[in-house]
Amino acid sequence: MLIRTEIGVDAASIDSLLRRSFKTDAEAELVQQLREDGLLTLGVVATDDEGQVLGYAAFSPVMLQGEDRNWVGLAPLAVDESVRGQKIGEQLIYAGLDTLNEFGYSAVVVLGDPAYYNRFGFESAARHALHCRWQGTEAAFQVYRLAEDAFVGAEGLVEFAEPFNRFA
Ligand SMILES: CC(C)(COP(=O)(O)OP(=O)(O)OC[C@H]1O[C@@H](n2cnc3c(N)ncnc32)[C@H](O)[C@@H]1OP(=O)(O)O)[C@@H](O)C(=O)NCCC(=O)NCCS
Repeated sequence: MLIRTEIGVDAASIDSLLRRSFKTDAEAELVQQLREDGLLTLGVVATDDEGQVLGYAAFSPVMLQGEDRNWVGLAPLAVDESVRGQKIGEQLIYAGLDTLNEFGYSAVVVLGDPAYYNRFGFESAARHALHCRWQGTEAAFQVYRLAEDAFVGAEGLVEFAEPFNRFA
């Protein structure tokens, strides 16, 4: 499995992976919209020998209290059912965090199961007085610090990019 940054020709294969990995087409449509709007900060793919995308992690900009602090959100993350449990998700996340760190981003937020994301160093966003707009996500909303001073003077509402508003 090759882990690398997404390029243009991956789009159809990413779309197909997302449509079969989630219950609805919402995640696939979200990524299409982010791409169209120029809001994909980074996409990381895992591809097999034929170049088919079997894993994907997308990162897009988020705002803190309406301010751009060079933070991004990780969503969606998907690995094809046939190859789950082989640490492909882990490799996608670590590759993404490494690249974002090199580019100078300050923090990464995610909405997901803490039992999964804790192992990568994500911690409760609520502990840093950070929240997102979705009710009942206090435990699921997590943050990963890239820059030493990421949380200095940082608290309040973290807003994902507009295409995420389709998730009521
Ligand atoms: C979540 C997902 C990306 C993990 O991909 P993966 O390549 O299998 O992940 P890894 O191999 O790095 O890690 C597998 C481990 O994570 C655990 N895990 C997977 N999903 C989990 C979850 N939601 N909560 C807790 N643990 C989870 C597995 O049980 C496994 O544990 P183990 O290492 O103790 O055996 C994959 O299961 C997937 O695509 N699921 C459907 C889409 C989805 O739910 N995406 C997450 C959105 S936040």
